Amino acid sequence: ETKVLKIESSVEINISYPCKVIRTGGLVAFPTETVYGLGASVFNEKAVDRIFEVKGRAKDNPLIVHVNSVDMLYKIGKVDEKYRTIIEDITPGPITFVVKKRMQLPDNVTAGLETVGIRIPAHPVAEKLCLCAGPIAAPSANLSGKPSPTDANAVIEDLYGRVECIIDAGETPFGIESTIIDLTGDRPVILRPGPVTIEKLEEIFGEIVVPDFVRDARAVTNPKAPGMKYRHYAPEKPVYIFGLSIREKIKKFVEKENGVILCPVDHKDFYPRDRVIVLGTLENPYTIAQNLFRILREFDKTKFNVAYVEKLEEKGILFSVMNRLKKAGMEVQL
Ligand code: TXA
Ligand code: MG
Repeated sequence: ETKVLKIESSVEINISYPCKVIRTGGLVAFPTETVYGLGASVFNEKAVDRIFEVKGRAKDNPLIVHVNSVDMLYKIGKVDEKYRTIIEDITPGPITFVVKKRMQLPDNVTAGLETVGIRIPAHPVAEKLCLCAGPIAAPSANLSGKPSPTDANAVIEDLYGRVECIIDAGETPFGIESTIIDLTGDRPVILRPGPVTIEKLEEIFGEIVVPDFVRDARAVTNPKAPGMKYRHYAPEKPVYIFGLSIREKIKKFVEKENGVILCPVDHKDFYPRDRVIVLGTLENPYTIAQNLFRILREFDKTKFNVAYVEKLEEKGILFSVMNRLKKAGMEVQL
């Protein structure tokens, strides 16, 4: 039996029930500022095992530990002195730090690694939950392979009946998963681009390493973020990415194959009106990130057979958006 707990106001948040669920070894889906997470107490090995079962997640793909303060982050992980001011400045927020493990944790949380991914979420519900029941181990609250959930409906679609509680606090503000940065080596290495952009990371950390598997999301051979090797974010139906130079050809395909175009509102007038789904606006590209996963899920429920997505300029947040799109689909080669 799953209890869906609706939270209407961010002023009065009563989460005593989900806190109790987590403390007593149950699973709770909860909102963060990125996507919804599926949480269990980090100290409860059995509960953490159930996260993997419920999601159908590979056991070698570690979870992120969610905490409420930098003090707790430093208790769980060993953080180099030189990074502390930066971490204190940018948290809470949509960024995960991979650091060496300090605290003893059940093996399944980190998939046996000596490092651990830790994040301090900035969503009022997540903050409160981490305070009363944290640290919380949580991956995104979707079935493995599906797009991450950005609202409670998507969580319900995937997990209803399999978890004790789903907190519904509406849409998540960023709509894509946190940036992951590995701080275990000489220089910071970005493992997953996200809301904190590469440009921003360079500004705060100085030089950072952007590995090939991040630069070209398709070229995945021996990724350092274990989760990167799995198919991700994908709807059931095919998704293709196309460059603007072949726009005219794609317009023909769209009719012939009963497809639909996914593009920013700024470009919608190039296509037949009844064959466009608007992703957001280039004037505020964060809107595109915010809508992407919901639209990929919605596309599966439409009558269209295939989605053609306009390639976006890989800068700022749109670099992170394109990273997810390349995992959901393939670039059209003509
Ligand atoms: O925004 C987010 O990060 C959301 C919310 C719920 O916090 N969570 C999320 O979790 O996206 P998940 O499990 O879907 O992605 C976690 C990623 C995986 O790619 C995993 O491989 C990586 O974090 N990760 C976790 N611990 C790691 C570690 N020690 N070393 C390298 N990668 C790690
Ligand atoms: Mg995930």
